[in-house]
Amino acid sequence: MDISGSAAIITGGASGLGAATAQALVDRGAIVTLIDLNTEAGDAKAADLGGATRFVQADVTHPGAIADAVALASEDAPLRIVINCAGIAIGARTVDRGGDPANLDAFTSVVRVNLIGTYNVSSQAASVMARNEPLAHGERGVIINTASVAAFDGQIGQTAYSASKGGIVGLTLPMARDLSSIGVRVNTIAPGIIDTPLLGSLNDEIREALAANVPFPKRLGTPEDFASLAVELISNGYMNGETIRLDGALRMAPR
Ligand SMILES: NC(=O)c1ccc[n+]([C@@H]2O[C@H](COP(=O)([O-])OP(=O)(O)OC[C@H]3O[C@@H](n4cnc5c(N)ncnc54)[C@H](O)[C@@H]3O)[C@@H](O)[C@H]2O)c1
Repeated sequence: MDISGSAAIITGGASGLGAATAQALVDRGAIVTLIDLNTEAGDAKAADLGGATRFVQADVTHPGAIADAVALASEDAPLRIVINCAGIAIGARTVDRGGDPANLDAFTSVVRVNLIGTYNVSSQAASVMARNEPLAHGERGVIINTASVAAFDGQIGQTAYSASKGGIVGLTLPMARDLSSIGVRVNTIAPGIIDTPLLGSLNDEIREALAANVPFPKRLGTPEDFASLAVELISNGYMNGETIRLDGALRMAPR
Protein backbone atom coordinates (compact mmCIF):
# COMPACT_ATOMS: atom_id res chain seq x y z
CA MET A 1 0.00 0.00 0.00
CA ASP A 2 1.18 3.50 -0.79
CA ILE A 3 2.28 5.42 2.30
CA SER A 4 2.31 8.77 0.55
CA GLY A 5 -0.94 10.68 1.03
CA SER A 6 -2.29 8.26 3.66
CA ALA A 7 -3.20 9.32 7.18
CA ALA A 8 -1.45 7.29 9.88
CA ILE A 9 -1.98 6.91 13.63
CA ILE A 10 1.00 5.98 15.77
CA THR A 11 0.32 5.27 19.44
CA GLY A 12 3.27 5.69 21.77
CA GLY A 13 4.51 7.95 18.99
CA ALA A 14 6.23 10.42 21.32
CA SER A 15 9.13 8.08 22.02
CA GLY A 16 11.24 5.11 20.94
CA LEU A 17 9.86 2.74 18.33
CA GLY A 18 6.76 4.83 17.64
CA ALA A 19 8.77 8.03 17.13
CA ALA A 20 11.20 6.34 14.71
CA THR A 21 8.29 4.89 12.74
CA ALA A 22 6.66 8.32 12.64
CA GLN A 23 9.85 9.70 11.09
CA ALA A 24 9.91 6.91 8.48
CA LEU A 25 6.26 7.53 7.55
CA VAL A 26 6.64 11.34 7.40
CA ASP A 27 9.70 10.85 5.16
CA ARG A 28 7.46 8.83 2.82
CA GLY A 29 4.68 11.42 2.69
CA ALA A 30 2.19 10.19 5.31
CA ILE A 31 0.03 12.57 7.37
CA VAL A 32 0.83 11.39 10.87
CA THR A 33 -1.10 11.69 14.15
CA LEU A 34 0.93 10.79 17.21
CA ILE A 35 -1.12 9.56 20.17
CA ASP A 36 0.62 9.42 23.52
CA LEU A 37 0.11 10.17 27.21
CA ASN A 38 3.25 12.29 27.38
CA THR A 39 2.29 15.79 26.21
CA GLU A 40 5.72 17.35 26.47
CA ALA A 41 7.47 14.63 24.45
CA GLY A 42 4.54 14.38 22.01
CA ASP A 43 4.47 18.10 21.26
CA ALA A 44 8.26 18.14 20.83
CA LYS A 45 8.23 15.13 18.50
CA ALA A 46 5.40 16.56 16.38
CA ALA A 47 7.28 19.87 16.07
CA ASP A 48 10.46 18.00 15.19
CA LEU A 49 8.70 15.95 12.48
CA GLY A 50 7.08 19.12 11.14
CA GLY A 51 4.77 19.33 8.15
CA ALA A 52 1.52 17.47 8.45
CA THR A 53 2.24 15.87 11.82
CA ARG A 54 -0.02 16.45 14.83
CA PHE A 55 0.07 15.28 18.43
CA VAL A 56 -3.01 14.21 20.39
CA GLN A 57 -2.72 13.55 24.10
CA ALA A 58 -4.82 10.46 24.80
CA ASP A 59 -4.80 7.22 26.74
CA VAL A 60 -5.05 4.18 24.44
CA THR A 61 -7.33 2.44 26.94
CA HIS A 62 -9.91 5.25 26.85
CA PRO A 63 -12.70 4.61 24.29
CA GLY A 64 -13.93 8.23 24.08
CA ALA A 65 -10.50 9.83 23.81
CA ILE A 66 -9.45 7.36 21.12
CA ALA A 67 -12.70 7.91 19.17
CA ASP A 68 -11.91 11.65 19.11
CA ALA A 69 -8.29 11.07 18.12
CA VAL A 70 -9.24 8.68 15.30
CA ALA A 71 -11.79 11.20 13.98
CA LEU A 72 -9.17 13.96 14.02
CA ALA A 73 -6.56 11.75 12.36
CA SER A 74 -8.84 11.03 9.43
CA GLU A 75 -9.86 14.66 8.82
CA ASP A 76 -7.24 15.56 6.20
CA ALA A 77 -6.71 12.24 4.39
CA PRO A 78 -8.07 8.68 4.49
CA LEU A 79 -6.83 6.86 7.59
CA ARG A 80 -5.07 3.80 6.17
CA ILE A 81 -2.26 3.08 8.66
CA VAL A 82 -2.26 2.29 12.41
CA ILE A 83 0.90 1.48 14.34
CA ASN A 84 0.27 0.37 17.93
CA CYS A 85 3.43 1.12 19.91
CA ALA A 86 2.10 2.41 23.25
CA GLY A 87 3.19 0.05 25.98
CA ILE A 88 4.35 -0.31 29.57
CA ALA A 89 6.22 -2.92 31.58
CA ILE A 90 5.94 -3.57 35.32
CA GLY A 91 8.03 -6.44 36.66
CA ALA A 92 6.81 -8.63 39.53
CA ARG A 93 7.16 -12.25 40.53
CA THR A 94 3.94 -14.26 40.86
CA VAL A 95 4.83 -14.83 44.50
CA ASP A 96 7.36 -12.41 45.97
CA ARG A 97 10.44 -13.29 48.03
CA GLY A 98 8.45 -12.87 51.22
CA GLY A 99 5.85 -15.38 49.97
CA ASP A 100 3.14 -12.80 49.25
CA PRO A 101 1.10 -12.86 46.05
CA ALA A 102 1.82 -10.27 43.35
CA ASN A 103 -0.07 -6.99 43.26
CA LEU A 104 -3.07 -7.58 40.99
CA ASP A 105 -3.37 -3.89 40.09
CA ALA A 106 0.05 -3.93 38.42
CA PHE A 107 -0.85 -7.02 36.37
CA THR A 108 -4.17 -5.45 35.37
CA SER A 109 -2.65 -2.16 34.24
CA VAL A 110 -0.04 -3.83 32.03
CA VAL A 111 -2.68 -5.98 30.33
CA ARG A 112 -4.99 -2.99 30.09
CA VAL A 113 -2.50 -0.68 28.35
CA ASN A 114 -0.68 -3.21 26.16
CA LEU A 115 -3.46 -5.57 25.13
CA ILE A 116 -6.76 -3.78 25.66
CA GLY A 117 -5.28 -0.48 24.44
CA THR A 118 -4.11 -2.17 21.23
CA TYR A 119 -7.56 -3.67 20.68
CA ASN A 120 -9.36 -0.39 21.43
CA VAL A 121 -7.28 1.63 18.96
CA SER A 122 -7.39 -1.08 16.28
CA SER A 123 -11.13 -1.67 16.36
CA GLN A 124 -11.98 2.03 16.39
CA ALA A 125 -9.54 2.82 13.57
CA ALA A 126 -10.71 -0.17 11.51
CA SER A 127 -14.29 1.03 11.71
CA VAL A 128 -13.17 4.32 10.14
CA MET A 129 -11.00 2.49 7.56
CA ALA A 130 -14.06 0.50 6.48
CA ARG A 131 -15.44 3.70 4.96
CA ASN A 132 -12.31 4.34 2.83
CA GLU A 133 -12.44 3.99 -0.92
CA PRO A 134 -10.77 0.66 -1.70
CA LEU A 135 -7.32 0.69 -3.36
CA ALA A 136 -5.95 -2.05 -5.63
CA HIS A 137 -7.17 -5.54 -4.62
CA GLY A 138 -9.78 -3.97 -2.33
CA GLU A 139 -7.23 -2.82 0.27
CA ARG A 140 -8.44 -0.16 2.72
CA GLY A 141 -5.82 -0.14 5.44
CA VAL A 142 -3.17 -1.85 7.50
CA ILE A 143 -2.67 -2.30 11.26
CA ILE A 144 0.68 -3.11 12.85
CA ASN A 145 0.85 -4.16 16.50
CA THR A 146 3.89 -4.35 18.74
CA ALA A 147 4.32 -7.49 20.83
CA SER A 148 7.70 -8.60 22.19
CA VAL A 149 9.87 -11.70 22.27
CA ALA A 150 8.54 -11.88 25.85
CA ALA A 151 5.33 -13.20 24.28
CA PHE A 152 7.29 -16.41 23.59
CA ASP A 153 10.19 -16.49 26.06
CA GLY A 154 9.19 -14.30 28.97
CA GLN A 155 11.65 -13.99 31.82
CA ILE A 156 11.25 -14.24 35.57
CA GLY A 157 9.06 -11.36 36.73
CA GLN A 158 7.48 -10.85 33.29
CA THR A 159 4.14 -12.64 33.68
CA ALA A 160 2.06 -9.50 33.15
CA TYR A 161 4.14 -8.19 30.26
CA SER A 162 4.34 -11.64 28.59
CA ALA A 163 0.62 -12.24 29.02
CA SER A 164 -0.19 -8.85 27.49
CA LYS A 165 2.16 -9.39 24.54
CA GLY A 166 1.03 -13.01 24.12
CA GLY A 167 -2.50 -11.64 23.89
CA ILE A 168 -1.43 -9.36 21.05
CA VAL A 169 0.13 -12.31 19.20
CA GLY A 170 -3.09 -14.25 19.81
CA LEU A 171 -5.41 -11.59 18.42
CA THR A 172 -3.35 -10.99 15.26
CA LEU A 173 -4.76 -13.80 13.11
CA PRO A 174 -8.41 -13.54 14.21
CA MET A 175 -8.31 -9.76 13.75
CA ALA A 176 -6.85 -10.21 10.25
CA ARG A 177 -9.68 -12.67 9.55
CA ASP A 178 -12.31 -10.29 11.01
CA LEU A 179 -11.07 -7.39 8.91
CA SER A 180 -10.51 -9.35 5.68
CA SER A 181 -14.04 -8.44 4.60
CA ILE A 182 -13.13 -4.73 4.63
CA GLY A 183 -9.63 -5.13 3.17
CA VAL A 184 -7.61 -4.27 6.26
CA ARG A 185 -4.43 -6.29 6.94
CA VAL A 186 -3.12 -6.93 10.48
CA ASN A 187 0.43 -7.92 11.39
CA THR A 188 2.49 -7.86 14.60
CA ILE A 189 6.18 -7.19 15.19
CA ALA A 190 7.74 -8.94 18.20
CA PRO A 191 10.96 -7.01 18.93
CA GLY A 192 13.93 -8.34 20.89
CA ILE A 193 16.02 -5.82 22.80
CA ILE A 194 15.85 -2.45 21.10
CA ASP A 195 17.80 0.58 22.26
CA THR A 196 15.01 3.03 23.20
CA PRO A 197 14.33 5.27 26.22
CA LEU A 198 12.80 2.14 27.79
CA LEU A 199 16.43 0.96 28.27
CA GLY A 200 17.66 4.46 29.09
CA SER A 201 18.39 3.73 32.74
CA LEU A 202 20.76 0.84 31.98
CA ASN A 203 24.50 1.51 32.15
CA ASP A 204 26.94 0.68 29.33
CA GLU A 205 28.08 -2.53 31.00
CA ILE A 206 24.54 -3.95 31.09
CA ARG A 207 23.89 -2.79 27.52
CA GLU A 208 27.06 -4.56 26.32
CA ALA A 209 26.06 -7.73 28.19
CA LEU A 210 22.61 -7.62 26.57
CA ALA A 211 24.16 -7.10 23.12
CA ALA A 212 26.61 -9.99 23.66
CA ASN A 213 23.68 -12.41 24.00
CA VAL A 214 22.37 -11.60 20.53
CA PRO A 215 23.64 -14.27 18.10
CA PHE A 216 23.90 -11.94 15.08
CA PRO A 217 24.30 -9.06 14.66
CA LYS A 218 25.98 -8.61 18.06
CA ARG A 219 24.27 -5.36 18.94
CA LEU A 220 21.00 -4.07 20.35
CA GLY A 221 18.29 -3.38 17.82
CA THR A 222 17.64 0.22 16.83
CA PRO A 223 14.28 1.99 16.53
CA GLU A 224 15.12 2.34 12.83
CA ASP A 225 15.31 -1.49 12.49
CA PHE A 226 11.72 -1.56 13.77
CA ALA A 227 10.59 1.31 11.52
CA SER A 228 12.08 -0.38 8.48
CA LEU A 229 10.07 -3.57 9.13
CA ALA A 230 6.92 -1.51 9.75
CA VAL A 231 7.36 0.20 6.37
CA GLU A 232 7.75 -3.21 4.69
CA LEU A 233 4.62 -4.55 6.40
CA ILE A 234 2.67 -1.54 5.15
CA SER A 235 4.05 -1.75 1.61
CA ASN A 236 3.89 -5.51 1.09
CA GLY A 237 0.24 -6.19 0.28
CA TYR A 238 0.51 -9.96 0.75
CA MET A 239 1.69 -9.82 4.39
CA ASN A 240 -1.28 -10.53 6.63
CA GLY A 241 -2.15 -12.26 9.90
CA GLU A 242 1.49 -12.80 10.90
CA THR A 243 3.76 -12.11 13.89
CA ILE A 244 7.42 -11.53 13.06
CA ARG A 245 10.25 -11.65 15.60
CA LEU A 246 12.80 -8.87 15.10
CA ASP A 247 15.58 -9.97 17.44
CA GLY A 248 18.86 -11.03 15.76
CA ALA A 249 17.93 -14.67 16.60
CA LEU A 250 17.92 -13.88 20.34
CA ARG A 251 16.10 -16.31 22.65
CA MET A 252 15.71 -14.99 26.18
CA ALA A 253 16.99 -17.02 29.15
CA PRO A 254 14.83 -17.34 32.29
CA ARG A 255 16.62 -14.33 33.82
N1 LIG B 1 12.49 -1.28 23.51
C1 LIG B 1 12.45 -2.61 23.53
O1 LIG B 1 13.46 -3.28 23.73
C2 LIG B 1 11.13 -3.32 23.26
C3 LIG B 1 11.19 -4.70 23.07
C4 LIG B 1 10.02 -5.39 22.81
C5 LIG B 1 8.82 -4.71 22.75
N2 LIG B 1 8.79 -3.37 22.95
C6 LIG B 1 7.49 -2.71 22.88
O2 LIG B 1 7.55 -1.67 21.94
C7 LIG B 1 6.62 -0.65 22.28
C8 LIG B 1 7.31 0.70 22.29
O3 LIG B 1 8.34 0.64 23.25
P1 LIG B 1 9.52 1.70 23.33
O4 LIG B 1 10.74 0.93 23.63
O5 LIG B 1 9.47 2.59 22.16
O6 LIG B 1 9.09 2.42 24.69
P2 LIG B 1 8.98 3.98 25.07
O7 LIG B 1 8.77 3.98 26.55
O8 LIG B 1 10.12 4.72 24.49
O9 LIG B 1 7.63 4.43 24.33
C9 LIG B 1 6.36 4.02 24.76
C10 LIG B 1 5.43 5.20 24.66
O10 LIG B 1 4.10 4.75 25.01
C11 LIG B 1 3.46 5.78 25.72
N3 LIG B 1 2.35 5.24 26.50
C12 LIG B 1 2.41 4.44 27.59
N4 LIG B 1 1.18 4.18 28.06
C13 LIG B 1 0.31 4.82 27.24
C14 LIG B 1 -1.11 4.94 27.21
N5 LIG B 1 -1.88 4.32 28.13
N6 LIG B 1 -1.68 5.68 26.24
C15 LIG B 1 -0.92 6.32 25.32
N7 LIG B 1 0.43 6.26 25.30
C16 LIG B 1 1.04 5.51 26.25
C17 LIG B 1 4.56 6.37 26.58
O11 LIG B 1 4.23 7.68 27.05
C18 LIG B 1 5.77 6.34 25.65
O12 LIG B 1 5.91 7.56 24.94
C19 LIG B 1 6.03 -1.05 23.64
O13 LIG B 1 4.78 -1.69 23.42
C20 LIG B 1 7.04 -2.05 24.18
O14 LIG B 1 6.44 -2.97 25.05
C21 LIG B 1 9.92 -2.64 23.21
